[in-house]
Amino acid sequence: MALRLGDKAPNFTAETTEGKIDFHEWLGNSWGILFSHPADYTPVCTTELGKAAKLKPEFEKRNVKMIAISVDPLASHQGWTNDINETQHTTLNFPIIADPDKEVASLYDMIHPNADDKATVRSVFVIGDDKRVKLTLTYPASTGRNFDELLRVIDSLQLTSKHKLATPADWRNGEECIVSPSVSDEEARSTFPKGVRWVKPYLRYTPQPERT
Ligand code: BEZ
Repeated sequence: MALRLGDKAPNFTAETTEGKIDFHEWLGNSWGILFSHPADYTPVCTTELGKAAKLKPEFEKRNVKMIAISVDPLASHQGWTNDINETQHTTLNFPIIADPDKEVASLYDMIHPNADDKATVRSVFVIGDDKRVKLTLTYPASTGRNFDELLRVIDSLQLTSKHKLATPADWRNGEECIVSPSVSDEEARSTFPKGVRWVKPYLRYTPQPERT
């Protein structure tokens, strides 16, 4: 069955371009982002991995470890890494899982046979420091992901895991947030000393408590 939000992220051991890992041990106390690629030596994936490598400091700032996967063997990943570094002007700085037997891909339901029965779709799993799934996204093979959007969602996830807040459409880190509907007006006044802006009884804004 497909993984759902709040589910424990399944553990696995796998060969990666940075050695064999036990996924949960590798995550440690960090958040994680696991993203799949339909195949090595494909153009969209090449640009995605380059972009992710350049954004690694941003993921690190948020205590998020990145890991990619495709259903190709290690030797293929290693050759492809050279191409990624050359064409995207970067150095790949996170592991790619080799999953030629599709074990991890099956565990995370990354193969959607009606789209393609051999390759993974472009899945994204954001995993919290409690090892639970916080976000799932599924893109078709033909559409590259927006990694800035993934950072934006992680900012929201981390903020709303600490505060009784939600974030509005197109919110960016540092902008006004929405007070959670479960919070009474009285509690809102005491919990958010920067003030609460009432628009409707169910739509109340407050400045972001702290910038992450
Ligand atoms: C790509 O990553 O470029 C890609 C993979 C599968 C189908 C189409 C594009």
